[in-house]
Amino acid sequence: MTNLYSLLFTSKINPDFEINSILNTIKELRAHNNKNNITGLMVFDGCNFIHFLEGEKNKIFELLNLMKNDLKQLDLEIRIEGELSNKRLFPTWSVGYSYDDDGEFMEIILNLKSKNLFVELPKHAIKLDLEP
Ligand SMILES: Cc1cc2nc3c(=O)[nH]c(=O)nc-3n(C[C@H](O)[C@H](O)[C@H](O)COP(=O)(O)O)c2cc1C
Repeated sequence: MTNLYSLLFTSKINPDFEINSILNTIKELRAHNNKNNITGLMVFDGCNFIHFLEGEKNKIFELLNLMKNDLKQLDLEIRIEGELSNKRLFPTWSVGYSYDDDGEFMEIILNLKSKNLFVELPKHAIKLDLEP
């Protein structure tokens, strides 16, 4: 059985780029995640991203390295990480994306303690308006 790992991290959009330059590639990002059996969620508030990824540990860290070298985002910071003991939180979302216009989702999630993340994140994510 593969060990499921999860990462919650934040970053800022590089002001030299528009969010659409990232969203225009979302089909490719999803295809990459599908291929590597990575699921998760990305929320943007106009300036900051909060990103949750889950999958096989080495695949997650391979992607993290690509993302750290991606000029479109800055200040990537891991907030919570750990083994997922049970099952995936977002088994059907290869990259669920939502715009959090008032930053409320981000504030709630960043204030969670790691032990509460796996319970609370899906509860709040279900209220998001996911974009195609
Ligand atoms: C905010 C943000 C989120 C991203 N999320 C993903 C993702 O979930 N999966 C993915 O494959 N690439 C994602 N990327 C793109 C990667 O950083 C990287 O550009 C992509 O994997 C292609 O890398 P390559 O062209 O070096 O192969 C994201 C980029 C940004 C800026």
